[in-house]
Amino acid sequence: MKRFVLVVLALMMVVSYSFAQKNVLVGVAMPTQSLQRWNQDGANLKAKLEAKGYKVVLQYANNDVNTQLQQLENMITQGAKVLVIASIDGSVLSDVLKEAKSLNVQVIAYDRLIMNTPNVDYYATFDNFKVGQIQGSYIESTLGLKQGKGPYNIELFAGSPDDNNALFFFNGAMSVLQPYIDSGKLVVPSGQKNFTTIAIQSWDSGKAQARMDNLITANYAQNKKLDVVLSPNDSIAIGIIASLKNNGYGTASKPYPILTGQDCDKPNVKAIISGQQSMSVFKDTRDLAAQVVDMVDAIMSGRTVPVNDTKTYNNGVKVVPSYLCTPVFADKSNYKKILIDSGYYKESDIQ
Ligand code: BGC
Repeated sequence: MKRFVLVVLALMMVVSYSFAQKNVLVGVAMPTQSLQRWNQDGANLKAKLEAKGYKVVLQYANNDVNTQLQQLENMITQGAKVLVIASIDGSVLSDVLKEAKSLNVQVIAYDRLIMNTPNVDYYATFDNFKVGQIQGSYIESTLGLKQGKGPYNIELFAGSPDDNNALFFFNGAMSVLQPYIDSGKLVVPSGQKNFTTIAIQSWDSGKAQARMDNLITANYAQNKKLDVVLSPNDSIAIGIIASLKNNGYGTASKPYPILTGQDCDKPNVKAIISGQQSMSVFKDTRDLAAQVVDMVDAIMSGRTVPVNDTKTYNNGVKVVPSYLCTPVFADKSNYKKILIDSGYYKESDIQ
């Protein structure tokens, strides 16, 4: 009899848990639809959360900080129990997150860390330092720097200064490149090397194009050779390619320089295939979404939330427990395997 009661009680708990889950609303705030990766992130998260029985409100904010703030307010008003936020400006969410905390809403920073607030509970991202290291190591090995080759001319770009990731990418790349700059095997003819000078607000392709135009005009007249451009991501690489094209690069006498990227956006995979961009860093957004869904599930069921880094990501107030997924090198030689065979893209997407 006692055993029967226990079994019935356990069953009731399981039923009420899955019923509760069905009624749990999760708010997903994404920065913009203009960049392919965020569309993929949003769609993956929504599908995976719904498959687990959660209700989802997914919103994109057109890279506008106030729009994102308003969307978060609305999600809280609608009764979201968890917010998953890919912030536009990581340092302006303190007030809205204070409100969230007062209502016991749990907050997961998605891909980009949310800064200067105690009210962010977890962070799920890729190993951002490693992304930069992959880009730097690619430049190192392609130029044969380890073997003492050089000097080569390089120009440096960094991502948006309001995105905490941007400095991680830059530091990762410079951890490989700086010794060669110091020894003179890599030369930066513009002299522009510090993060704030080379950062591109909002990761904007047009702004990257304009900066590349200026660099070429001021430093690469009289056929001075540009060997490498460090681009932190694909949207910036797109602007750089446009500038290079307009300035006559891409011919036998003036070949495209080595150019890095990140995200494996479709236009950039095409550019890699056609030789305008050299490589990208693939961050499988399906993995990140799966990880976040697991975090949400753990939070809602009182399980220990899975994290694998409790040291690296200090947001100015606290170290946020993080889960770091692994970024992967991608170029012409392996894109088929990692992008097509894995089902991430169809062949027709990138032709
Ligand atoms: C992401 C990159 C992306 C960039 C621009 C960064 O926070 O980690 O994957 O390219 O934002 O959207």
